[in-house]
Amino acid sequence: IDPGQWAQLLLHWFYANRRDLPWRTVPRDPYKVWVSEIMLQQTKVEAVRPYYESWMDRFPTVQALAAASEDDVLRQWQGLGYYSRARNLHDAVCEVQREYGGKVPDTLAGMRSLKGVGDYTAGAVLSIAYKKPVPAVDGNVLRIFARLYVIEDNILSAKVKKSVTALAAEQVPPDAPGDFNEALMDLGATVCIPKHPRCDACPLQKRCGARALGKETELPVRLTR
Ligand code: ADE
Repeated sequence: IDPGQWAQLLLHWFYANRRDLPWRTVPRDPYKVWVSEIMLQQTKVEAVRPYYESWMDRFPTVQALAAASEDDVLRQWQGLGYYSRARNLHDAVCEVQREYGGKVPDTLAGMRSLKGVGDYTAGAVLSIAYKKPVPAVDGNVLRIFARLYVIEDNILSAKVKKSVTALAAEQVPPDAPGDFNEALMDLGATVCIPKHPRCDACPLQKRCGARALGKETELPVRLTR
């Protein structure tokens, strides 16, 4: 079962259905994309929204955040949880200010070297803010790909993450990499959801291996170690 090339179907759906989110302001600011992606780890969009807004009032730039004390930063984060995210983000932004003159790195290696920045966050910032044709694979993307390609292995394994990253890299359209990655985020949040996927609303329903086999609620396989 090969869904073939499907990025354009997804993009058409995205352009008609994209969510209006405060960090999606044009032109895309790498610092703002970075902060939003860190906040959105383990936290739902609606919980993040007010924190993101007041964060950008208080710390609108790399320079402003780098100049703040850790206490101030943690106070702004208060209530979002997983406070190491805030400490790592502050440390990393201070490093960007010191080592890169305040410009968020525009390479995978540069981003990955920063505290708290993994493959997903690096891919999101590079594709969305810098328009680099790279994938951004998080849990939502793993779920979508497990269904589309009928991947029956544990999606928490490094092996599956690696093969999904390779499959995603083949699909990323060079002229709209950020839109493609955000489209996957929106599809995973609103249509290809964990428990009862809304396949009738999915732009990829005719390409989906899991759907063809009636396995959409059985996939992905997610075994915690
Ligand atoms: N989840 C993770 N990143 C996101 C983004 N940029 N927009 C919406 N939902 C997301």
